[in-house]
Amino acid sequence: MKSKVTVVGAGNVGATAAQRLAEKELCDVVLIDILDGVPQGKALDLAQAAPIEKHDAHLTGANAYEASAGSEIVIITAGIPRKPGMSRDDLLATNRGIMKKVVGQVAKYSPESILIIVSNPLDAMCHVAMEESAFPKHRVIGMAGVLDSARFRAFISQELDVSVENISALVLGGHGDTMVPLPRFSTVAGVPITELMAPDRIESLVARTRNGGAEIVGLLKTGSAYYAPASAAVEMAESILKDKKKILPCAAYLEGEYGLSGLFVGVPVKLGRNGIEQIVQLHLSAMESAALQKSAAAVKELVDAMKGMP
Ligand code: NAI
Ligand code: 2OP
Repeated sequence: MKSKVTVVGAGNVGATAAQRLAEKELCDVVLIDILDGVPQGKALDLAQAAPIEKHDAHLTGANAYEASAGSEIVIITAGIPRKPGMSRDDLLATNRGIMKKVVGQVAKYSPESILIIVSNPLDAMCHVAMEESAFPKHRVIGMAGVLDSARFRAFISQELDVSVENISALVLGGHGDTMVPLPRFSTVAGVPITELMAPDRIESLVARTRNGGAEIVGLLKTGSAYYAPASAAVEMAESILKDKKKILPCAAYLEGEYGLSGLFVGVPVKLGRNGIEQIVQLHLSAMESAALQKSAAAVKELVDAMKGMP
C-alpha cells in the first residue's frame, strides 16, 4: 500500500511540495486549502501531468479533512507569506490562528501522523502545533534548516564554481535574522570552507544566507520563496517515509540539548520512520554556542509574545 501524505495550504509552497512528492512517487497526496476549488483544481492539474511525468501517485484536493484521514505525514504550509518590508515575525498573530485551526483538524483525522511545519514564523508555529496537537515531540518537526543550509550550499557552489553535490553545509538556530550558519561544519568534498575561502568571503556568504528569504521577497514582491522551501520539506518527508535516517537540520523541541529547554530551535536531527529519532549534539565553539543561544532567545521572545494572545 502506498503511503499517504497530506499537504495543508495549496498555495505556492504547498502545491509545489505536492508536485515534488508525486513526481518522486513517494506517496499519494491530499492537498487541503480553505479556498473553494483551489486544492481540487491543483490536484486535478497535477494528476493530469502524471501520464507525462510517469508516476502513479494519486492526488486529491479537498476543503475538508475527511480526505486526509490516516495520513502518515502532514506538511502544514497554511498561512500568509511575507510581503516586502515585513519580517517573518510580522506573521505571528495571523498564522497562529490559522495553525491552531489546521492542527485541530489534523490531530482529529490523522492522530498518528508526523507533522512537518512550514508556516512562519517557523519556530513559533512549531510550538503552536505541538500544543494544539498534543503530539509527542518526535512527531512535530519544523522545516527551516534544510532550506537555509541549501541556500548556503548554493552560494558556496557559485563562489567556488564547484558542483552543489560536493557541498555540505549546516545552518542552525531559529529561522530568522539570528540564524547560525556554521562555516566550520560546511565542507566541499569534505574540506571545511574555512580552509578554502578568505574570512571576508565567508562572512559575505553567511550574511547572504541569513538574508536569503528577504532577498527573494524583495525580488518577487508579492510573496516569498517556494521552490527551495518545497524541496526542503519533501527531503524531510522522504527521509521519514523511506526510513533513511538522514541527519538534517530541523526545528526540534529541545529539553536540555545545547543547553536549551522548552524551545523549538534548529539543530541536526536524525529523521526516520518515527520522526525525530535522535538529536545530534555537536561540539560548538564558544562563539558558535553564543550565536545559537542568541538565536534561541529570539525564538523565546516570540513564544512569550504568544502567551498574551487570546
Ligand atoms: P501562499 O499564500 O501561496 O499559500 C498559503 C495557502 O494557505 C493559501 O492557499 C491559503 O488559502 C491557505 N490557507 C490560509 N488559511 C488556511 C486554513 N485555515 N486552512 C487551510 N489553508 C489555509 O503562501 P506560501 O508561499 O505557500 O507560504 C506559506 C507559508 O509558509 C507562509 O507562512 C510562509 O511564510 C511560510 N514559508 C516558510 C518557509 C520556511 O522556511 N519555514 C519557507 C517558505 C514559506
Ligand atoms: C524563506 O526563508 C519565507 O521563510 C521563508 O524564504
